[in-house]
Amino acid sequence: VSERPTAVLAWVPALASEMLTPGHVVRLRRSCEVPDAEPLARFDEARAGALLARAEILLTGWGCPPVDAALLGRTPRLRAVVHAAGTVKQHVGEACWERGITVVSAAAANALPVAEYTLAAILFANKRVFQLQRRYQELRQFRLWPQEAPGLGNYGKRVGIVGASRIGRRVIELLAPFDLEVQVHDPYLPEAEAAALGATLVELDALLAACDVVSLHAPVLPETRHLLDRRRLALLRDGATLVNTARGELVDGAALEAELVSGRIAAVIDTTEPEVLPADSPLYTLPNVFLTPHVAGALGTEARRLLDLALDEIERFVHGLPLRHAVQREELGRIA
Ligand SMILES: NC(=O)c1ccc[n+]([C@@H]2O[C@H](COP(=O)([O-])OP(=O)(O)OC[C@H]3O[C@@H](n4cnc5c(N)ncnc54)[C@H](O)[C@@H]3O)[C@@H](O)[C@H]2O)c1
Repeated sequence: VSERPTAVLAWVPALASEMLTPGHVVRLRRSCEVPDAEPLARFDEARAGALLARAEILLTGWGCPPVDAALLGRTPRLRAVVHAAGTVKQHVGEACWERGITVVSAAAANALPVAEYTLAAILFANKRVFQLQRRYQELRQFRLWPQEAPGLGNYGKRVGIVGASRIGRRVIELLAPFDLEVQVHDPYLPEAEAAALGATLVELDALLAACDVVSLHAPVLPETRHLLDRRRLALLRDGATLVNTARGELVDGAALEAELVSGRIAAVIDTTEPEVLPADSPLYTLPNVFLTPHVAGALGTEARRLLDLALDEIERFVHGLPLRHAVQREELGRIA
């Protein structure tokens, strides 16, 4: 890498309007040549050819077209793809790994808002806040008396975390100050590490049967598709809440819908399969379902944190320091 490598930006600005602040541009220009601080929305733009020919670092974000063999043919000097967004699986093609290009992902920064959403969901679920709000809205002249609230609240409840992923680990950390017991399931997590996190490592079936709230944080992989199938959903306790901020594909949607329509369990759902659900899905109106349109990840001002991480990494790369968020090809089979 030359003293001041050339950085080229590429994402759809409309998808990340608050991501790049003037301060970010000033900071990037301290370590890199930035011939054009306006992100490329497409690689066939008129100005793209000359920029790509110079690019040593490609700083990418949401909506950036894949960095594939065709693009690499136009970027002979490219050394690093720094993705100021989550997963790089669709973003970085085989040719990138083949050429030994350094790949960085800001998934760790995207994990924070998802963990915050999840913490709020868990605390509100244990207090039945979502259902009580609906009932209040419907009945108006309504008061919940203590004798009508057995088992309600955030004292002594058990929370199950499926996947000690970046998000799952952060959720466990955020749960530490509360009077809640945390169980975790993850085939890759050593028991001692679970204990250090403050959680008990258990098998998935045992976790489902034991917890008041179960929160999904595993990646979608061939072996996690419909991880919660009909049998496993039936293991959830009556009145339990399932929180899914991960991916709809982790759950058998038809079996989940049946459990929710019956009213046996409740759910807080940010991600569905398909995304978006059909307009006649009962999940939109069920009183025991709190459904949000995939908003848990970085939005608005939170997108700036993705660029903060990307710039930290670019500075380390330029100064030859070890990177903290490089993605290794070998880990693609177990990460999001
Ligand atoms: N709702 C949103 O806006 C949003 C935003 C970001 C990520 N996500 C989703 O959240 C989930 C977690 O993302 P992340 O970046 O924290 O993931 P990650 O890449 O950090 O997760 C990888 C880890 O998952 C664990 N894991 C792998 N296979 C598992 C299995 N079979 N069972 C349990 N755990 C397993 C392993 O510890 C592995 O290291 C993903 O599904 C991702 O798509 C959603």
